[in-house]
Amino acid sequence: MARTHIATTVRSPRFGADWWQRGVVYQIYPRSFADSNGDGIGDLPGIIDHLDYLGRGGLGVDALWLSPIYPSPGLDVGYDVSDHAGVDPIFGSEADFDRLIDEAHRRGLRVILDLVLNHTSDQHAWFRASRASRTGPYADWYLWRDPAGRDGDGHPLPPNNWLSFFGGPGWQWDPKREQFYFHTFLVEQPELNWRAPGVEAAQFDVVRGWLARGVAGFRLDVFNAFLKDPDLRSNPDREGTTAWGRQDHRFDRDQPDFPDLIGRFRAIVDETPGRMSVGELFDGSVERAASLSTDRHLVFDWELTEMPWRGSAVRDTIEHRERVFGDRWPTAVMSNHDQPRPASRYAQSGQAPDPDAVARGAAVLLLTLRGTPFLYAGEELGLQDVDVPASESVDPPAHRFTSPDFSWWDRSRCRTPIPWRPGAGAGFTTGRPWLRLNPDADARNVAVQLEHPGSVLNTYRRLIDLRAASPALQTGTLRLLPDAAEGVVAYVRERGDESVVVVLNPSRTAATWAPSAGLPDTTWRVVLRTGGPAAAAASGADAAEVTTGTTLELEPDEGIVLVRTG
Ligand code: GLC
Ligand code: CA
Repeated sequence: MARTHIATTVRSPRFGADWWQRGVVYQIYPRSFADSNGDGIGDLPGIIDHLDYLGRGGLGVDALWLSPIYPSPGLDVGYDVSDHAGVDPIFGSEADFDRLIDEAHRRGLRVILDLVLNHTSDQHAWFRASRASRTGPYADWYLWRDPAGRDGDGHPLPPNNWLSFFGGPGWQWDPKREQFYFHTFLVEQPELNWRAPGVEAAQFDVVRGWLARGVAGFRLDVFNAFLKDPDLRSNPDREGTTAWGRQDHRFDRDQPDFPDLIGRFRAIVDETPGRMSVGELFDGSVERAASLSTDRHLVFDWELTEMPWRGSAVRDTIEHRERVFGDRWPTAVMSNHDQPRPASRYAQSGQAPDPDAVARGAAVLLLTLRGTPFLYAGEELGLQDVDVPASESVDPPAHRFTSPDFSWWDRSRCRTPIPWRPGAGAGFTTGRPWLRLNPDADARNVAVQLEHPGSVLNTYRRLIDLRAASPALQTGTLRLLPDAAEGVVAYVRERGDESVVVVLNPSRTAATWAPSAGLPDTTWRVVLRTGGPAAAAASGADAAEVTTGTTLELEPDEGIVLVRTG
């Protein structure tokens, strides 16, 4: 059913001055990117060896976000940090890190670090000291509490009803201190107490230290969980299907004084010009994401990772995000190291899908929506989730905790190594990869895709090029156009005199679209399409002029980009 015109207009854009609003960010999961020394684990020299693939002339992204590179026992694969200020020797040396920054800069690439400031590893010096004494200088750096009482058998009872997101109770009894400590994630990831005066100062020192080494900014892990209710009140109950879902998480995250904390953090980041920050919204809505973003600080929302690949759903998602973000600056995220791969996820939600066609269509969306795009290594190859047997899984929540009240998607499936070329080890390693490769690595890899004009990889490259040359795509307004045909989503990005129209057909049925309602009576040129014979799609043979009344045919899952010429 054709709907009436929905126009999401943004007031004159106040964004665009900073590279992190205009540019594209590429997330590297260091263990899985490239291994330089044959131990099967990706490392910093491996990243350096592949910077040409990422920079101008290659994929063409603007910045690299590295998932944690710090020393870590590795129980949450690097998100359990035992020293926030150093480099884990498994990834290389401190000198390798400084060389990575230099080599990246030489290619116009910036480097962003993943800061895990909500919790540490239980092996961190701060926690060891905190656990050792109730009175020492680190005593209150973690959330320690006395038991609420004892049960009939004399066992200590936890201070409140808070849970672990990774399953089970959130409080762990420590026989040494004879107190409980809180952990939102693994038992080995104790939660820092940001309300202790020393903690904030120590965290901000870490921030300053990395800025001084030339990093261009930070992704803040589960940032809205930093502060808890000062009185540690129990969360109220609500309806839900899991133990976690049956609590209204009012007191274990999202505290009213949190925006001030982010303001103080951002002021430090702004001491060095041109630095960015983005918060990973922990388990929250797009409304929450928008409310926590500011002119200087981005926040991920998860709408694009949750929507089904269906015209009406895609359209509703765009409309909703635009309405909620208004004149704030969103991000566009379809995947990361915690989520199913979009080629798998979207394809599964479509009918009889072709995952590569879906991946190319999704690329069009990611790189033409309003907001800073973040793309996760492997997404540009259309990598799919890999069936990793439980015995090889590297994701503790997937197998450590089992209960009918808890279900977990094994994140190993989206963390497999990048396949660079055909052959044993796929160019990722000369040894045994730490996690198995995608089973189609001989066909689906960087070298093969670079040769095919219509590959997912070349689609990403062309879109990133288009975006880099288009102020409208980088920072223009977004206006949804009226539905012309069932299932077709169309919108226009405008800035100054420049207009770019994007048409997407997230369905398994061919469709048609004609520039008409909502657009001026003028001429347009097709600059990119993801369907059609691959060669034609890339050679510019499709660079046809289109006028009002011309009908474009869209293949299933196809995306088309047009620019206004008249
Ligand atoms: C974030 C990370 C995730 C990690 C969790 C705990 O959600 O993205 O990988 O397990 O924080 O640190
Ligand atoms: Ca290695």
